[in-house]
Formats: sequence, structure tokens, C-alpha cells
Amino acid sequence: MPHQVSSCISIPHAVSPQPTTTYTSWKSFREKKADYQTGIPRSVNMENLQNEYLFPEIFMRESEHAKKNPDAKIIRLGIGDTTEPIPGIITSAMVEKALALSTVEGYRGYGPEQGIGALRKAIAERFYKDSQIKENEIFVSDGAQCDISRVQMLLAPTLSVAVQDPTFPAYVDSSVILGRAGRYQAESNKYRNIVYMKCVPENNFFPDLSVTPRADVIFFCSPNNPTGNAATRQQLKQLVDFAKANGSIIIYDTAYATYISDDSPRSIFEIPGAKQVAIEISSFSKFAGFTGVRLGWTVVPQELLYSDGYPVIKDYNRIVCTCFNGASNVVQAGGLACLSEEGFKALNRTIGYYRENAKILVDTFSSLGLKVYGGRNAPYVWVHFPGMKSWDVFNKILETTDIVTVPGIGFGPGGEEFIRLVEMALAGHGIAEAYVMKKLYKQKMEEQEKKERIKMGSDSSGSEVQSSSGCFPCFSKTHQRTSSRIKDYREKQDGTARDTHV
Ligand SMILES: Cc1ncc(COP(=O)(O)O)c(C=O)c1O
Repeated sequence: MPHQVSSCISIPHAVSPQPTTTYTSWKSFREKKADYQTGIPRSVNMENLQNEYLFPEIFMRESEHAKKNPDAKIIRLGIGDTTEPIPGIITSAMVEKALALSTVEGYRGYGPEQGIGALRKAIAERFYKDSQIKENEIFVSDGAQCDISRVQMLLAPTLSVAVQDPTFPAYVDSSVILGRAGRYQAESNKYRNIVYMKCVPENNFFPDLSVTPRADVIFFCSPNNPTGNAATRQQLKQLVDFAKANGSIIIYDTAYATYISDDSPRSIFEIPGAKQVAIEISSFSKFAGFTGVRLGWTVVPQELLYSDGYPVIKDYNRIVCTCFNGASNVVQAGGLACLSEEGFKALNRTIGYYRENAKILVDTFSSLGLKVYGGRNAPYVWVHFPGMKSWDVFNKILETTDIVTVPGIGFGPGGEEFIRLVEMALAGHGIAEAYVMKKLYKQKMEEQEKKERIKMGSDSSGSEVQSSSGCFPCFSKTHQRTSSRIKDYREKQDGTARDTHV
């Protein structure tokens, strides 16, 4: 079956977060008196959990905006989901495996809990050849998110935790659920027992470890969601040395490693000594478009030991066998196809396409004088709105441009003043750009052009600078440049130009 990056381009079709319980329905549910209640008290850890409403809240605001503006073409650059179809070589492998299950020869029941040998070997060869991670140190899973919680079963609830601030909320939330975060403190928007390692432009998104308090468990995500920043080799060496000096364990998340375009390490195990202090979690989700298919892996090196010298890998094996039972065999066949030469090449083409989208977002916001980060080594673009509350920026962008973003505060207190945009959802490319340029910054552009007109001494009526379509010429130029860049890229990659829905 032929495979290609995508056969058609449309308005972004990333599905909005569909909360099982929306904010409003939950509120009304609480207000309603139930006919019967169990005698089981709610877990204090669950009661302590905040931020429950980030994506439901975004969804609710989006729904309200859509109700008020029924003609609005809402563009969702918020949720970090993939949008491009999975290459045919990969889906064919899954189909073949599924069909084989209907035959006597092809039928298989339970597989190894740790994952099929061929896939563990392929992961070791593809991602860990230089760091010499062995296949039996790799545990195939149903995704990184599950593993973030699963690995924490290894660790006592009394252990302290450090996280980057801002970062992917699952590290904090799972720590709260497991009871090791301490009480939530509303005034600081932080949990008492969590060390928040500030990662901001001023410190190049890497914490100052000389003033970072010791923590038992250090979650570190690189490239980081939401800042899009990948730690350098030298920074990671500092992190490994810091963990070693403190006897800590690093839980290192590389869900976006395949997006790295510079020489930043793709794995913590590229750093000498890391095998003695780190566990690495990774995923096929963003690399292969497997967000719905579900596949990931965790590396637990044999050198990683508890304080009594017992190997952590032995306990992790026990946890996987007891609490998991192995990833779907159909999905693992797809994972193997992802790592074949042909599958890997096809996936890199998709990532290349996403990177082009990132450039559009970065260029668009940078050209408006805003400080823009990320996009180079991760599918996230992180835009700074100094002095503004991130929810206010979110509202303003939604109301004026119909674009859904994510307020940075959702990723920790260090995310205030920022918004996150996801380039993967920018399948309608020029359209999103048009909205941003035309609506949100219309005023700013007008002012700029007015200044230019005055400088050039041209007609004050504006007839020279306003195109017949009502677009500003500088916008049109950016828009044309973008469209032709996407077209060139596609021609290069696929041999075919596709509709760019301008
Ligand atoms: C940093 C990070 N880790 C893990 C995940 C979840 O990955 P998976 O789909 O494999 O559960 C995400 C999803 O957005 C993420 O951003």
C-alpha cells in the first residue's frame, strides 16, 4: 500500500478535548442530591488535586465562543494531538497482524508483558545504539502517560519530587494522586512538597541547580512540553551530576525526542553515568501519530540501584507483570513497522511537515514583535505576552481570531504570561496565520503601516497600501510566502503539490 505524508489538507481536525464530565455538568451534579451514596470517603489525594479543569475549561470557553459566533471557523492550536494520517506501511502491518489473528497459524494470546522481543530489539537499535541500552532494559507499554504513573509505583509515597516549571502537568498530578505532593497552596499555586524548577527565557529554560533544593525524584522532560526547549548535552550532564550528588532518581521523558533538529541529546543515556540515576519514558504518540493507537516504552537500566543495592529493574518487571500485562500485539506490529527503514523515513517526512508548520507560527508571532520560543525541537511554540495573565491572552486570541490556544498557567506557575500553540494542528496553515494577522493584530499592523507611509511620504488615504480584498499588503506577502513554502516542501517530499486551502 503506498504511503505518504497526507493525501489531503483540511482545516485542522484535531479533536477538541471531550471531557467525560464537563465543568458545568459536574457543578450541577454536585448540587443535585443523589438517591444513594456509598460509605467510602473520597481520597484526600484526589481532593487535593487542582487544575482539574484546564482542558474542560478551555473546551467550555471554546463552546461558549462557538455559540456566540455560529459562523466562526474555530482553529484549535491548543491540544497537543497529531493530525496527519499514519503512513500506510504502518497501518498495513497492523491490518496484517489483526487478520492473522483469525487464522489458526497466526493466532496469539497473551504475549510477553515486557513487549515482543523484536520490538524491544528494534527500539534498542533505533534509539539507544550509542548508549548501549540492552533490549531487556526496555519495557514496551501502552503509552508514556501510563508509564509516568506506573514507574511511580516503584517509589515510596513519602519521597519528594522536583519538576520543571512549566511542564507537562501529569508529573505533578500523578504525584498528587499518589500522595507525595503535599497540600496545595492557593496563594503560590504550588504544592508544598514539590520543588518547582523555574525554566524561563532568563535561564535558557534550564534550572539553576546551584540553588535548587534536593528532591528524591526529578521529573525532567526534554524537549519540554510546553516550552519546546531541548536541554543541551552540557545541561544534562549538570542534571546527572546533580542527581548523583543527591542520590536522586531522574524520570526523563523523551516523548518529543524525534522532533529534535539540532545536536541536543535525544536520550538521557547519551550522558555518561546516566544509567546509574535515570529511568527514561518515551512514546510512539507524537513520533508516529499513535496518540489514539497507544504505544510507548520505558527504559530501566540494570545499573540503577536502590539505596540497599537492589536493582530497580527487577521491581519494575514485577510491576509490569502485575499491573499491566503487555501492549496489544496488533499495535506492537505497527510499532515494529514504524522502526523499519521505510516506516521511519515516512514518519520523518511527517515530522518535517509539522516543523514547517512550526516555522509559520514562529515567523507569524515573531514578525509581530513578540518573543517566541520552541518550534525547532518540539511541536510546541511558546509565546511571551509580558505583563499579561495567560487566561486573558487566551480569551483575547479566542474572541478576536477564533483560535484556541492553551494558557501557560496550565503548565505551572512559571507559565503565566505565556501561551502554548501546537503546530501539529496547523494543517490549515495560511488560514490560522490570516486570522492572527488580520484580526488580533490588525490595529498594530495599521499603526505600523501608517508609520511606513509617513516615512515613504505616500498618500495618506491608504489606497496604496490596502489591497482590494481588505488584507494588508505585508500580511498578503507573508501569506503568499507561507503558501509557496508549504507547496515547495510538499513537492520536494511527495512529488505532488497539494491544496493549501488558502
Ligand atoms: C511530555 C509528554 N509526555 C507524555 C505524553 C503522553 O504520551 P502518550 O500519548 O504516549 O501517553 C505527552 C502528551 O502530550 C507529553 O506531552
